[in-house]
Amino acid sequence: MSKALVVYASKYGSTKDVAEKVGSVMRERGEEVDVLSVDEVKSVNQYNKIVFGAALYAGNISKPARSFLNRQQAVLAQKPVAFFVLGPISKDEKEMVDAEEQLKKVLTKFDWFKPANAKVFVGKFDLSMLKWPISLVGKMKGTPLYGETLRDERDWDAIQTWAASV
Ligand SMILES: Cc1cc2nc3c(=O)[nH]c(=O)nc-3n(C[C@H](O)[C@H](O)[C@H](O)COP(=O)(O)O)c2cc1C
Repeated sequence: MSKALVVYASKYGSTKDVAEKVGSVMRERGEEVDVLSVDEVKSVNQYNKIVFGAALYAGNISKPARSFLNRQQAVLAQKPVAFFVLGPISKDEKEMVDAEEQLKKVLTKFDWFKPANAKVFVGKFDLSMLKWPISLVGKMKGTPLYGETLRDERDWDAIQTWAASV
């Protein structure tokens, strides 16, 4: 039987949660799905469909996410892929537009990577999980993270709707 893969790169767990939700929506409609982190995936060859989720950090996806794309390029370029990124910590229009631009830049860097679907979702920010000096991000005036301690406005309805479409 054909199988789908939902693969994620997540530093603090919020992208992992979303990947698990996407996988469960796909299972509910009868698909066989593995939900795995980028480090757990040796090859994507056996999968007929791939959903890849990553978070935005300083305008890019994380190093493990980039390494995954580089490692799997040959096969990923041949498979149907849907891509989501987490980033903005609210639905604020400017934040969403900035994240869309960041997503576009990521896709420009990986010019062979042509997901049929690429989507930005609101992420989660939890200052208590960040080690110094990364925690200083909450003190950087003029950034969306300034003064934030905990914010989780992930839109589970939007995630469910998107998952139903991939
Ligand atoms: C140090 C740091 C830098 C971030 N940079 C960005 C960014 O450039 N663009 C963005 O949209 N979100 C940014 N975010 C928000 C994260 O993408 C968001 O918190 C995401 O949900 C984290 O995913 P994870 O829990 O799977 O690691 C940043 C968060 C941190 C902690």
